[in-house]
Amino acid sequence: MTGGPVGQIERKLASIIGQDLPVLKKIKKYVIQSGGKRIRPLTHYYTLRMLGSDHKEWVDAGAIGELIHNASLLHDDVVDESDLRRGKPSAPVLFGNKTVVLAGDYLLACGLHHLSTLEHSRELLVIFSRTIRLLSEGELIQMEWEGNLKIPPKAYERIIYCKTGCLFGAMTESAAVLAGADSARAQYRAFGERLGRYFQVRDDYLDYFTPAKETGKKEMQDFERGLVTWPVMRLLETKKGADKILRDIWKDRKKNLKKMLGLLEERRIQESSRAYLKSELDSMLGFILKHPPSSFRDKMHSTLKTLEL
Ligand code: FPP
Ligand code: MG
Repeated sequence: MTGGPVGQIERKLASIIGQDLPVLKKIKKYVIQSGGKRIRPLTHYYTLRMLGSDHKEWVDAGAIGELIHNASLLHDDVVDESDLRRGKPSAPVLFGNKTVVLAGDYLLACGLHHLSTLEHSRELLVIFSRTIRLLSEGELIQMEWEGNLKIPPKAYERIIYCKTGCLFGAMTESAAVLAGADSARAQYRAFGERLGRYFQVRDDYLDYFTPAKETGKKEMQDFERGLVTWPVMRLLETKKGADKILRDIWKDRKKNLKKMLGLLEERRIQESSRAYLKSELDSMLGFILKHPPSSFRDKMHSTLKTLEL
């Protein structure tokens, strides 16, 4: 384990997750040694410090957000039947679906129980329980539209808000709660939600345009599963018969991977998505720089910069 905030988060995770059963010991080890970047707790920590607070329970709130995230990934790899996570065998491959679903519930319960012991437990419970509800809602809407090219842009936006935006929003809003910055809660939540949206759109982009060895996930998995993600939404907007061409490609996705990449290339979806992501990131970096200079502001800035494509 490393030092600094990441080391503190990992030690806190280890203390929050109980391990009464041998199987939970294995799951705990899997979660702690997962190779995750702990970007959610770091977002919480740097936001809190940029708000001028050093409330010691940052590590608790940060670790709870990370636990919720990890529980959702455990469930997600079962739902997606995904056998790779961060370049390694996923939890369902290692432990089986049934164990993974129950272990995900267990992690959530550990996180919520720990939350009940914190100074701001009431406000934090409202924020984090809403997030858990929305994470589940997002997966259900996604499932409803799986394989369907008629998904309205609003439904796509709702999915990415629920899947990723709301948890980032919870991390920044909870930082404002700990900092006692009540009037800034909405503003910081909006910033976190925007960051989460960026994250998800970037993830959608990487699925199509980045080799598996860099993402640690199977290439074009979203496409093969028939998930209508950012590149497909943008493709549909280009008109010129995109919907008809796509419908033909969609019929046999496994066979049509190359055709799909050709169509994306012809409509310059990679370039336009990159430009969009760059403008979003620049705008968020601008928000960070509006804070008074500090080493935390610089850290937040450089952490966001690592998300540049
Ligand atoms: C990853 O999306 C999935 C999520 C961010 C949310 C998953 C949520 C659930 C399974 C609902 C249950 C929630 C809880 C809190 C237990 P992705 O499949 O697009 O990304 P990936 O490529 O990383 O798998
Ligand atoms: Mg998945």
